[in-house]
Amino acid sequence: MRVLFVCLGNICRSPTAEGVFRRQLDEAGLSGRVEVDSCGIGPWHVGKSPDPRAQAAARRRGIDLAGLRARQLADEDFYRFDYLLAMDHDNLAAIEARRPADSAAEARLFLAYAGEPARDVPDPYYGGDHGFDEVLDLIEAASRGLVATLRERLEAERS
Ligand code: 4NP
Repeated sequence: MRVLFVCLGNICRSPTAEGVFRRQLDEAGLSGRVEVDSCGIGPWHVGKSPDPRAQAAARRRGIDLAGLRARQLADEDFYRFDYLLAMDHDNLAAIEARRPADSAAEARLFLAYAGEPARDVPDPYYGGDHGFDEVLDLIEAASRGLVATLRERLEAERS
């Protein structure tokens, strides 16, 4: 199973989602069964580490984002990943606009897994530091839902 988190710049929300989700998969004993990555719609920050504010907020919850580097969404992602999980409606529209016709990847808003099918993870880039804690709260909730969904799917595949 392969999951790709997608935001605009790949330096705030989607690397945070990658770090949080990896941690939760590990705690659930599923890290060997699920591949995780993140990327951005835009090219501006390719090759950069996550925003220092995102790194600091994650670190306060014991999650290290320092090794991640930004990259841009690529055509191969539409074939490689089972789930393309968008942080907001604009990201989801951008994913669908460039989806190849024969891609079967499932594209959804990430917060659907937190029981909030229409809610965005707000973009914290131009806001204050507190925005990063709200992002983490939302991402932790959705990650729990996604772990539960994938666990069920993996168990169904086994039986
Ligand atoms: P992200 O945040 O999409 O959560 O990584 C942003 C980072 C950079 C920009 C916008 C959003 N930017 O315009 O450079």
